[in-house]
Amino acid sequence: VFAHVLRAPEDPILGVTVAYNKDPSPNKLNLGVGAYRTEEGKPLVLNVVRKAEHQLVNDITRVKEYLPIVGLAEFNKQSAKLIFGANSPAILENRVATVQCLSGTGSLRVGGEFLARHYHERQIYIPLPTWGNHPKVFTLAGLSVKTYRYYDPSTRGLNFQGLLEDLGSAPPGAIVLLHACAHNPTGVDPTLEQWDQIRKLMRSKQLLPFFDSAYQGFASGSLDTDAQPVRLFVADGGECFVAQSYAKNLGLYGERVGALSIVCKNADVASRVESQLKLVIRPMYSNPPIHGASIVATILKDRNLFDEWTIELKSMADRIISMRQQLFDALRARGTPGDWSHIIKQIGMFTFTGLNPEQVSFMTKEYHIYMTSDGRISMAGLSSRTVPHLADGIHAAVTR
Ligand code: LMR
Repeated sequence: VFAHVLRAPEDPILGVTVAYNKDPSPNKLNLGVGAYRTEEGKPLVLNVVRKAEHQLVNDITRVKEYLPIVGLAEFNKQSAKLIFGANSPAILENRVATVQCLSGTGSLRVGGEFLARHYHERQIYIPLPTWGNHPKVFTLAGLSVKTYRYYDPSTRGLNFQGLLEDLGSAPPGAIVLLHACAHNPTGVDPTLEQWDQIRKLMRSKQLLPFFDSAYQGFASGSLDTDAQPVRLFVADGGECFVAQSYAKNLGLYGERVGALSIVCKNADVASRVESQLKLVIRPMYSNPPIHGASIVATILKDRNLFDEWTIELKSMADRIISMRQQLFDALRARGTPGDWSHIIKQIGMFTFTGLNPEQVSFMTKEYHIYMTSDGRISMAGLSSRTVPHLADGIHAAVTR
């Protein structure tokens, strides 16, 4: 009965790892998926995570009972504090509904499902380009996906004018997906002044902000600095959605731990919204897993562990920044044609190189360098040892 089923294509991002794993070359380099690697090219478990896990394992009072549908209460409280700030009026006034979800993707999906059921406007505007999973998540949640201009290939920077025009002509009430910081895939963020202009425009048209915050702490190295755009929107008292992920900033990728927060007008609305979120979650996966959220809660509520985390986070962010400089220098040293200054200007995990799909496939074939076909490379997958190989590959691709 399934003979008619066609083979589906691999995922454009996770499929890169599948192809990489099949390559027997000893020089292969995976710059596809956004996952942090050490200078030795190894995945990293943060020290604070090891410490928190140690505490959890040794606590014999801990059990493996089901969590509530909305997840671990302490985790939800700490997650809201982390993104909105401990003194956020929205938190003090109890008007945030926060639910633990399956990392960033799960949080986006639960938010999308809630909007499709309870919000009057179905259209969601996502930046062009954006993370490849965004349109799929929201379409399957029942929303209608539109795009707004974001990236300007000619400057390799922000198309701010285009962004304002497109949001300005969106229907009143439309939902707008915003990357809180370290835009994926471009590494191009608005300045704080531009964020405020975006906010004013959106509020004047009652556009509903939906932040995807997958890189808090990874852009600047500071958790508070990276949360500023979100806090700007919350400070004006308006509604706001935020999907948080701990995959990158705590290295908890496979633990699938994240949160969805919906900032409402008052505490009564927030508690009704939370009750409806439960109806979204229960038939999808009943309740979320306990382990990853317990790790996060343990770290966030303990001053010492929290401080240690900020240091480890900063060192990951700094290593990525130094990779940018090294790659830029290596291309300059080779006299590679083109202006590569965007490598050091862009921020976060990714560089949007400007390489075209043909150049990308040349580099994969000839140099065993793997990246997404849009030319995005994960700087977090690079090390001083592999920079020369990547620079050679880029040089050969653009001078061919
Ligand atoms: C990425 O963009 O590489 C990451 O967010 C991982 C993923 O799930 O796509």
